[in-house]
Amino acid sequence: MRRLARGRAPVLSARSRWHPFGRRGRLGAAVACLSLLAAACAKNAPMDTLEPAGPNARTIDNLINPVFIIAAIVFVAVEGIALVFTIRYRHREGAPEPVQIHGSTKLEVGWTLIPALILLGIAVPTIATIFKLAKAPDNPLNVTVTARQFWWEYEYPDLGVVTANELHMPVGRNLELTLRGEDVIHSFWVPKLSGKTDVVPGRSNRMSISADTPGTYLGQCTEFCGLSHANMRLKAVVQAPAEFEAWVDSQRRAASAPVPGSPAAEGAELYLSKGCGGCHTVQGVSEGKVGPDLTHLDSRSSFAGSMFEMTPENLATWLRDPPGVKPGSKMPNLNLSADETSKLVAYLETLK
Ligand code: CUA
Repeated sequence: MRRLARGRAPVLSARSRWHPFGRRGRLGAAVACLSLLAAACAKNAPMDTLEPAGPNARTIDNLINPVFIIAAIVFVAVEGIALVFTIRYRHREGAPEPVQIHGSTKLEVGWTLIPALILLGIAVPTIATIFKLAKAPDNPLNVTVTARQFWWEYEYPDLGVVTANELHMPVGRNLELTLRGEDVIHSFWVPKLSGKTDVVPGRSNRMSISADTPGTYLGQCTEFCGLSHANMRLKAVVQAPAEFEAWVDSQRRAASAPVPGSPAAEGAELYLSKGCGGCHTVQGVSEGKVGPDLTHLDSRSSFAGSMFEMTPENLATWLRDPPGVKPGSKMPNLNLSADETSKLVAYLETLK
C-alpha cells in the first residue's frame, strides 16, 4: 500500500520525462557505447596503430599484444568473480546474517603476490622495449623536425633540403629525428610507423622511424597545442630509394622563375609587395622564417599542416582568409582582391 501511494503520481509524470537512469536513458547509453565500440573496428584505418608498417612500430606492437592479453584475462577474472559474488551472496529477505570473517593471511598474501608477479613479468619486456627504442640506429638519415603552431618543418641537414608537412623517407632506411619546438608543446606521431614523441620548446628530443613498404602514412600532432591542434596533421611519404633520390634532387633545385609578363610574374611581385617574403622563404627571393619554405611548395600534395590538398581552388580559399579556414593560423588575412589572389595562386603553382 505504502509503495503504491508513494509511487503513483511521480511514476505517471516521470514516464513522459527523460531520466539518465530511466529506460530510454539506459537504451541511449547502450547505443552510445555500442557505437563507440563499432567506431573502433574501422577496417584499413589510415592511422591504425595496431597495424604496424615499420620495425619500430612493430616493436611497440609486440609489447602491446601480450600486455593487452594479460590485462584482458585479469579484467575478465576480477569482474567475473565480482559478478558471481554479487549475485550469489546478495541479500535475501529473511536470510540469516552470513559468517563474518576478519582477515585471511593466505588470501592477502595471494592477492598481493600474484599482481606483483604479473607486474614483474610485464616489466621485463617493457624495459627491454624502452631500451631497444632508445638506441640510435646505425648510419641513419638525419632529419630535424621543428613543430610550430600549426605545421611541421623537416630539415635534412646532410642533404641540404628543407620542406614542410610531408616527411619524405626512403623505404627500409632508419631516420633519426631530432624534434624541436618553438612555441608550445606538440607531439609527433605517425601511428603505423612509430610511437609518439613530445616536442618540447627548449629541449631536443629524438626518435627513430622507418617503414617497410612505400606509401603515404598519415600522422597527427597528439598534444593539444591551440585552436588548430586538430588541423596540425602530417604525412610520411615513403619512397623507393631511386624515387627518394629524385625527390632530393628536385628539392635542391633553385626556385623556378615565372615567365615575364604572365599572371604568375605579377603574382611574384605581389608576393614581395604584400610582405609574404617577411614570413616565407623562396630560395633566391625571400628568407622569412615564420612560415613554411615555399621554394617547392607545389611539389607537395598538401599544405597548411597537411590540412588541405594542394589544388589551386584550395590555395585561393586559403589566401583569401587563412585564420578563417584554419583557426589560430599565424598567417593573417591580407584582404586580397580576387584578382590578386588568382595571380598569387598562379605564382605559387610555378614553385614546383
Ligand atoms: Cu601541435 Cu597539437
